[in-house]
Amino acid sequence: MEEKEISQAVIGRLPRYFRYLGDLKDEGVERISSQELSELMKVTASQIRQDFNNFGGFGQQGYGYNVEFLYNEIGRILGLDQTHHFIIIGAGNLGQALGNYLNFERRGFIFSGIFDKNPELVGKDVRGIKVQPMENMEQFVRENDIDIAVLTIPKASALEVSERLVQYGIKAFWNFAHVDLPVPEGIQVENVHLSDSLMKLSYNISRYKKEREEK
Ligand code: NAI
Repeated sequence: MEEKEISQAVIGRLPRYFRYLGDLKDEGVERISSQELSELMKVTASQIRQDFNNFGGFGQQGYGYNVEFLYNEIGRILGLDQTHHFIIIGAGNLGQALGNYLNFERRGFIFSGIFDKNPELVGKDVRGIKVQPMENMEQFVRENDIDIAVLTIPKASALEVSERLVQYGIKAFWNFAHVDLPVPEGIQVENVHLSDSLMKLSYNISRYKKEREEK
């Protein structure tokens, strides 16, 4: 199915649909109406229909959505029907935690290498993969069909390291360093800032408290 240009807002909602549909599929649910999905996910049924209409709808009048078909289609749209090899730069707390997270493989993301400039970390085992020195990075990226670099290094080094990685052929960054990467056109960057999420939580706590005080 050919899909039209999809807004980033819709793309941002697809992983959540994908997760819920995956759970329904695992529970043996074969079909679901937009109303039922709406109640489950706490989003309006019209939002769900609008989102799915971007890809031709997926549903049949009076039948609802075929869970497995929808799950597979959304997975395909998200590119999860392909495998992506990734490396981690920075084998500190965060880099090792991400390397140790097994579930990425389930989604087709293959942890292939981990690098650090600290000689004391070189050789350390992270889920069966040894931390390598930065000098090995170029050859490793060029020879191993690596798609994604995960940056878990301080912001002071992130720009220089990302520039090098682009030269070696990296096409996408999952960037945890707190800096925007000025990458050339065609290179994809997804910034992750856990603290942004925490600040949203903090805002909601304050708002809730204020509302209760006003009652
Ligand atoms: P950490 O200090 O445990 O690890 C950083 C690692 O990067 C160290 O092993 C260090 O040797 C290595 N490193 C530093 N410069 C390097 C370079 N030029 N090349 C290769 N390796 C280099 O720190 P942690 O807790 O793992 O955090 C890593 C970074 O991620 C920090 O800058 C932190 O601010 C950021 N961070 C971001 C989060 C987010 O939500 N975006 C959450 C937590 C941390």
